[in-house]
Amino acid sequence: MSDTDPNPVPNPAPAPAAPLKPAVKPADMSRGDFLWAGWAMLAAFFAASAAAGARFMFPNVIYEPSQKFNAGPASGYDLGVSTKWLNEQRVWIVRTPSGFYAMWARCTHLGCTPNWWGDQNRFKCPCHGSNYTLAGDVIAGPAPMPLWRAKVDLAPTGDLIVDKAILENKPGKRENAPFFVNYTSA
Ligand code: FES
Repeated sequence: MSDTDPNPVPNPAPAPAAPLKPAVKPADMSRGDFLWAGWAMLAAFFAASAAAGARFMFPNVIYEPSQKFNAGPASGYDLGVSTKWLNEQRVWIVRTPSGFYAMWARCTHLGCTPNWWGDQNRFKCPCHGSNYTLAGDVIAGPAPMPLWRAKVDLAPTGDLIVDKAILENKPGKRENAPFFVNYTSA
């Protein structure tokens, strides 16, 4: 007799895994729970909307450098065009026998920086050849309008305060305050 069983009994098939039981069956939610869930979702929606609305009321602010600067004592300027602030502020300070104005050194054609040519008594733009008088009026080239002047004040200290955020270039307006400061002191 052999040790081998001629009619081996097959191993029984593994029992199928029991299905996972959901923690809470929909049928387990009461009507009250369902209503509460709805209210919670609605509240979340309104909270998100309110947050978005509040964000809209406080837009991003771009902090740019101030357009206002102190150009120093008026008494420190000679008659004529000063290029002292050209590189730093892009402004010429112009002193006439009766006062001051501050000209924004930006060509009104495409925005290049003109140069002051004292021997020719004019501003000349190196880009496309626009020429301007000492007052800023166009006398040659494609520039469509006069140069802009910036607001200028005389502080109690005697300093000139220039504000490039406020500009004017219309004859009749640009020659008066706040775009011209009367000044006849030495
Ligand atoms: S930008 Fe000055 S003439 Fe064109």
